[in-house]
Formats: sequence, structure tokens, C-alpha cells
Amino acid sequence: MREFLVDLKAHGMLIEVNKRVSTYEIPALLEKLDGRPVIFNLVEGSSYRVVGNICSSRDLLALSLNVRKEELLFRLAEAFKKRSEPEIVKNGRCQEVTEKLNLNNLPILTHTAGDGGPYITAGVFIIRDPEFGRNASFHRLMKLDDKRFATRIVEERDTDVYLKRAGGELEVAICIGNHPSLLLAASTSLDITVDELEIANSLKELKLVKCKKVDLEVPADCEMVLEGRITSELVDEGPFLDLTSTYDIIRKQPVVEIKHFTHAKNPIYQALLPGGLDHKLLMGMPREPAIFNEVNKVCECKKVLITPGGCSWLHGIVQIRKKNPEDGKNAIEAAFRAHKSMKHVIIVDEDIDIYDLNSVEYAIATRFQASKDLVLKKDKGSSLDPSANQVTRETTKVGIDATIPSDKDRSHFIPVKILGEDTIRVEDYVSQ
Ligand SMILES: Cc1cc2nc3c(=O)[nH]c(=O)nc-3n(C[C@H](O)[C@H](O)[C@H](O)COP(=O)(O)O)c2cc1C
Repeated sequence: MREFLVDLKAHGMLIEVNKRVSTYEIPALLEKLDGRPVIFNLVEGSSYRVVGNICSSRDLLALSLNVRKEELLFRLAEAFKKRSEPEIVKNGRCQEVTEKLNLNNLPILTHTAGDGGPYITAGVFIIRDPEFGRNASFHRLMKLDDKRFATRIVEERDTDVYLKRAGGELEVAICIGNHPSLLLAASTSLDITVDELEIANSLKELKLVKCKKVDLEVPADCEMVLEGRITSELVDEGPFLDLTSTYDIIRKQPVVEIKHFTHAKNPIYQALLPGGLDHKLLMGMPREPAIFNEVNKVCECKKVLITPGGCSWLHGIVQIRKKNPEDGKNAIEAAFRAHKSMKHVIIVDEDIDIYDLNSVEYAIATRFQASKDLVLKKDKGSSLDPSANQVTRETTKVGIDATIPSDKDRSHFIPVKILGEDTIRVEDYVSQ
């Protein structure tokens, strides 16, 4: 993350706050400056600096991976397929200092008046299963006392599966202050055997170091590592302001006990505003390449967008080159397979601009007939959707095939051009 902050500074993209701020003020400032990276150099009651909003736009993510914004989808799709093992090195920035553990010294933010407590939101859990290998994923951490957290582990996801296979207790290393490439990789949900650190390494070279007290490897250059154990003790976790900007409910969730704490010299704590652009992009964007790859197995997929209006999680638009009558329906099924939390998906043709919602609505208005083009299925969806059952995740998914029907004359569906539309230039007629 440090090198990226240097890059941001060099591009004039890092806002520096030198006034002393409290952990209660930082969330509001992150919200007001959403879309722009900010570093807080003086934090009340903590010797750590705090940084936030570093992944809060596609431009920032593109800069972090050294690609153009338009190439992000394809760069990620490629990294999912061409994964490579990171090198293990002897020393890392994250172990420069070993500190006596006291979680009260960390600048953990409280985000809303109704939150269950102060929450770490940018912590990446590294865990291992003897058969499935290493796994990296995000889990929020609600501080309980100076050594323990309650964490949220969504049922049936990899961490939950690993934990159950281990008999309910598991060693963990929680890494904070990571480069966007690792954050993007940790947000993916591919096959359970996929090691997200290999995806991160394929996006940008990653080096690992062995932990001191647990048998795990962590990104050598992250800012801090909390080593410990996910325990079988369950406590109330939540409420927590989530992606939908509504509270996630209180559930009985596991306690994490921290045993060992190492960090970089002059460490920088990373914050991620819940429901902010950072959170939304990291959640939604890695689903786009996953959907792209899966839809490409059944027909030709051109583009995918997880829309911000759908909380960057619940809604997707998929553009295909339709060759067979069933391509639209097959694309719907493939998209739901690739992103299991998605509730509504719209399939459109190549002439529809998926980044312009008016264009997408035009496709629904003129190409879609619910009696034959609608897919409605009862299924398990997102635990974050307040309109679904947030405990069982039962929901109803809707797929809309808004592609031109194969049994009708295609020319009836293509917007007709006005005479002279391509040749007549307004500037030749209107002076101003
Ligand atoms: C910023 C952010 C925060 C997240 N917080 C949690 C969380 O608290 N609990 C959880 O189970 N998943 C959380 N997730 C989702 C998982 O990290 C994500 O679904 C991941 O892809 C699951 O990976 P897995 O399939 O390897 O388990 C979060 C994702 C992001 C991007």
C-alpha cells in the first residue's frame, strides 16, 4: 500500500489532513471526500496514521494496476485464470516491529451511532485448509476488548467451510494496510480451491513472509498483522452499517482471539468506509470478470457491469453477441452461477450501452416480453438485502432477457437513423 500512496501523492491525488482528528470524525470526512484518497496524519489517542478511500474509483484501481480503466475487466478476468504462486521471503515490512498486544492502541473507527462497536473494516483474513489450501477474504471485526473481536463469517462461503472442516476453530492472520491488488483478490469468490494470494500475485507481484506464531504466510509489505485464532465461542455481532447503507442484523458470530501483533515502522492503518465507494467497488467489481468468464462458457460475452444503483452487489447488466435463441436465457443462468448474491440481471445486445441506464431501459422497453423472456427463481441470495430473509438468504431472483428476439425480424428492433444523421454537422448551420 505504501508504494501506491507514494504514486497517489506524485499524481497529486492524496489529500493530507494534518489537523488532529478523532476516530469518530474520520468516517464523516471519508464520506465527504468519497472518491478521493485521504491520509490523516494525526489521530487522537493513537500513534498510527489512518488512510482511506484508496480504492474508491475505477480510475484509482486502474492506476494501482497500471492499466487503462477500460482494461480493468479483462485484466482481472485474465488474473483469475493465470494465477501464480507468490514467492516467500525472509523479512517483510509487516514484521519490522513486534508490539505488546493492546487493541485499544489501534485507531479502530466507530461509523454510526447504532453500530455494535468500533469496527475494523479493511482486515483480510488469511487461513489454511489441509486439502483446499490457502484462502484470503474480508471479514469485518467488531472490537470486544483489548485482545478479542467478534467477526462476521457469511455462511457457506470459504471461511465458513474451512472453519467447519477444522472442527470450529482455526488459526488466522489478519492483514491490514494492503495494496489494492490484494484487496481486489481477497474480494473474489471463485472455486474453494483457489488461493486468492495467487490472483493477487498475478495482478501485481506479491511477496509473502511466514507468520511468527501461526502456520500461515502473509503479504510481506502490508502494514500490520494480527495473528490469532477464530474460536468456537459465539457472541452477538452487529448491528453494522453495510453495503446497502442500512444496518445488517445482529447474529451470533465467532470470537477471534489475537495472540501476536506485528507492524511496519510508522504504521498506517487502513480504513474502509462501510457503504462507501471503496466498499462498493471492492465488492462489486471482482464479480464482473467472474460473470464475464462464466457467461463466455455459454455464449459470447462482451461486457459486464455491476451497477452502483444496485449497491454494487445486487444488480448486473451483461452484454452479449447473440447467435442462438437461447443465448439470453443461458447468459442469465451463467451470471447467477458466477455471482450467487446477485438478485436481478439484465441481458442486452451489443448495440446497447450498458453504462447508460436509459439505453438499458430502452432494451427492456422494446425487446422484452415477460411471458417468455423473464426468468424468475426462488434461490439463496445476499444476506445484505433487507427485503430478503437475511437469516436464510432466501430470495427471488429475476433475470430479464432484453435481447432482440430471434423469431422476429431484427431490423424492426434497430433504432432507425434520421436522414443525414451521420453527415450533417450542426456547427455548419448554427453559429455559437
Ligand atoms: C470490503 C469488504 C468487506 C467484506 N466483509 C465481509 C464480512 O464481514 N464477512 C464475510 O463473510 N464476507 C465479507 N466480505 C465478502 C467476502 O470477502 C467476499 O464475499 C469473498 O469473496 C468471500 O470469499 P470466499 O468465497 O473465499 O469466502 C467482504 C467483502 C468486501 C469487499
